Amino acid sequence: MVERVADAGSAKPSTQSALGPRGRGLFGRLLDSVRSVPAARREAVTIAIASGKGGTGKSFIATSLAVQLHRRGLRTTLVDCDFGLAVDHLLLGVKPVRSLQHLLAGQATLAEVVCETPCGPKLLPGASGVRKLAAMSDKNLLTLARELGALAQQEDVLVLDLGAGIGPATMLTMLAADHIVMVTQPEIAALVDAYAVVKCVTQLHQKAQFHVLVNRALTAGRGEQAYEKLTEVARQHVGINLNFLGEMIEDQRIGQHRLGQLPLVVTDPTGATARALELVVQRLMVLAAPLLQREVAGDAGFEARFRNFRLFI
Ligand SMILES: Nc1ncnc2c1ncn2[C@@H]1O[C@H](COP(=O)(O)OP(=O)(O)OP(=O)(O)O)[C@@H](O)[C@H]1O
Ligand SMILES: [Mg+2]
Repeated sequence: MVERVADAGSAKPSTQSALGPRGRGLFGRLLDSVRSVPAARREAVTIAIASGKGGTGKSFIATSLAVQLHRRGLRTTLVDCDFGLAVDHLLLGVKPVRSLQHLLAGQATLAEVVCETPCGPKLLPGASGVRKLAAMSDKNLLTLARELGALAQQEDVLVLDLGAGIGPATMLTMLAADHIVMVTQPEIAALVDAYAVVKCVTQLHQKAQFHVLVNRALTAGRGEQAYEKLTEVARQHVGINLNFLGEMIEDQRIGQHRLGQLPLVVTDPTGATARALELVVQRLMVLAAPLLQREVAGDAGFEARFRNFRLFI
């Protein structure tokens, strides 16, 4: 629970008049974030699935990872954070009635929106074709932070499937997450965009943890080569190392997924793609260990990080 030590309105009158009504709001929010000391809490490890370029395979990877983590006995919820262009419910074979849109509008509670899926992990579905979600208001961002913070307290892992690029809500979700899985393709255009995201996030959060997954490689080893280039550029220009999470080979069957069909990790658990995903999960469990709900200080949880980074976006 957030304990408010001082109200934004308690700022000195001279400061208020100097900043004007808009400045008062910003100053109040800054004071609020500095002075509020929420209680320590137990919460999930949060993993954002991100990319620079669109269509690199984030939703495929996010849904597959969520299924595999659930199978390992971890309480897992997949959150469709592709705000306004959600598809995860289709990939997991469910038809939800309510979505993030209803949650943010106060028309449904978290318990009413989060749904079970046939493959095991729970899903907080996103909305599709909703422009309001694509350009979220400040109020919506705060509600999103609070609801994801509350959801994190019920789970071991939250997998956050993001939209491509560096839109404000996408950036904030990446900044607040414990880990960022950067899904890229091996082609130069995708690597350049991936680097751009790494740079933007690192400018605000030098300790961000990036794990690179190169998807749709045409030959074995091509993904690791692409990763080597990307981490070298990141090391030289922004001074950070990126971890290698693995490579996935192009598999035509992934693109042939039909509506209502279950994910490939379920329908063909022993095939080459499912085995490659298994390796990815094993590496993730080492890089992000321990992948379990753990205690975090009140000002270090997902919600607090999201709210604090919001002041700089
Ligand atoms: N390893 C792969 N081999 C072949 N096709 C793939 C592979 N990975 C993903 N795909 C296909 O690529 C397309 C894009 O995948 P997906 O929707 O998961 O990407 P995305 O990054 O989530 O896209 P967006 O940026 O629009 O959210 C889909 O048709 C998917 O089936
Ligand atoms: Mg997607």
